[in-house]
Amino acid sequence: MIFEPFSIKGLPFKNRIVRSSIGGKTAHWDGTITSAFKNFEKRFAENEVAAIISATIAVDEKRASPLQYPVLSHDRFIKPLAEAVKAVQQYDCRYIIQIGDVGGHTQTSLFNEAEDAKSASTLFDFFFGYKTLHRAMSQEEIEIAIEKFGEAARRVRETGADGLEVTASKGYLIHQFLNPAVNRRTDQYGGSVEKRFRFLEEVVRTVRQKVGDDFLFGIRLSAADYNYLPLNIRLPLRFPLRQWYFGNTLKENLYYAQKLKTLGVDYLHIDKGFGFINPKGNPGAFPLHEIKLYYNGNRHLSFKAWMRSVLVNTIPEFILSPLANIGWKDIPAISADEARRFRDEIGLPVIANGGFQDRRLIEETLQAGKADLIAMARPLLANVNLVRLFKQGAFLPPNPCTHCNRCPVRTANFPLGCYDPSRFASQEEMEAQILEWSAASDERLAYQENANSMAEQLADK
Ligand SMILES: Cc1cc2nc3c(=O)[nH]c(=O)nc-3n(C[C@H](O)[C@H](O)[C@H](O)COP(=O)(O)O)c2cc1C
Repeated sequence: MIFEPFSIKGLPFKNRIVRSSIGGKTAHWDGTITSAFKNFEKRFAENEVAAIISATIAVDEKRASPLQYPVLSHDRFIKPLAEAVKAVQQYDCRYIIQIGDVGGHTQTSLFNEAEDAKSASTLFDFFFGYKTLHRAMSQEEIEIAIEKFGEAARRVRETGADGLEVTASKGYLIHQFLNPAVNRRTDQYGGSVEKRFRFLEEVVRTVRQKVGDDFLFGIRLSAADYNYLPLNIRLPLRFPLRQWYFGNTLKENLYYAQKLKTLGVDYLHIDKGFGFINPKGNPGAFPLHEIKLYYNGNRHLSFKAWMRSVLVNTIPEFILSPLANIGWKDIPAISADEARRFRDEIGLPVIANGGFQDRRLIEETLQAGKADLIAMARPLLANVNLVRLFKQGAFLPPNPCTHCNRCPVRTANFPLGCYDPSRFASQEEMEAQILEWSAASDERLAYQENANSMAEQLADK
């Protein structure tokens, strides 16, 4: 079934494999994408994925996170993005732009800024975001945030993209409003499950109005929050403790999905967990060294950031490593069973995400009707030609992704690529692969051509 075409809202997908969002340092400091963004995306399209879902593109430039990640908060960002969209579409590959707002999970900033603390409620969360305290948004700030989603959605359509996805997952701002441990509001945006949905509902209504009824519009939704993973230090405690410990379960998320269907959303993209990164969203190993690197790089930003870095540097690794690894496990097709519940009970097309790589498992998931499309990130970063290999009959690539999870953390500081040394014969080989991903920019190629022609001219003299 992998190679059976599929369509959503009349939009054809040539096979069932979608490249999931992969964010990285592919923009200038102001958030305008560089040509590395285009070249990065193009490589997946050339290698036969049916569609690409972009990195989460920030709707608010004040919370571009991390720095040098793409932003869509102004019309000046449309043109360069439109060029990237076109470059992908020439390979009969659909391009869906995902937009989002990280809210209080903002990872880095030039300076400590009040905007980076904005969330559903005021609380202390040890693991996510650099701000010591997340702060509740005012009614006016909520309205501005919704407006920013709407304006970014309009821009998405103007880029010529095939569709738009809003992330209500990953522990980002919308997810912060949905999650009962994070949303402690007592106004119309918090309290009951209906009220926690209100922020997302207003975003969906605004976005739909901006992009029109004929434009593909999906939502990335977490099937269950698992607040206790990776580390639930959200203080003060929230009662009932069951909600604080687990967050939303499948039951509440099915309720949200039903409402989304009524609001006219076209598909659901299902993953699991709360926060980036978390063991349910990125099943595999805990990247302790990469987390240390990240904490060390940002410790100047706040007291909490400094404290985290002191802790990870002083606790001996033989104690820290087993503790930090609690809950981290490589679980294949981690959200496939939940995806089936959404597909069966809501009746919208479903993309399943997380822990796919083996062709047999992808085939089984599709055959069993658990999902219509399968999204992959890390395995495609490790083997960009994975779909071609499947076509040639392979079940797994010869050098598969190990789900070591170094890439999603390391690339907040460094270029995109695979950072697992066990997959490479030498450090030079690993470096060359990273350069191939991220530095294959038009500027570099032009520079190379220029250097070649200068060398020829010198040789002629
Ligand atoms: C380097 C990297 C960057 C990512 N960036 C984003 C992102 O910008 N937005 C998002 O929603 N998910 C992001 N993800 C999560 C992936 O889209 C995907 O959900 C996750 O890696 C699990 O899928 P996999 O098992 O196929 O890797 C990223 C993952 C990686 C590895």
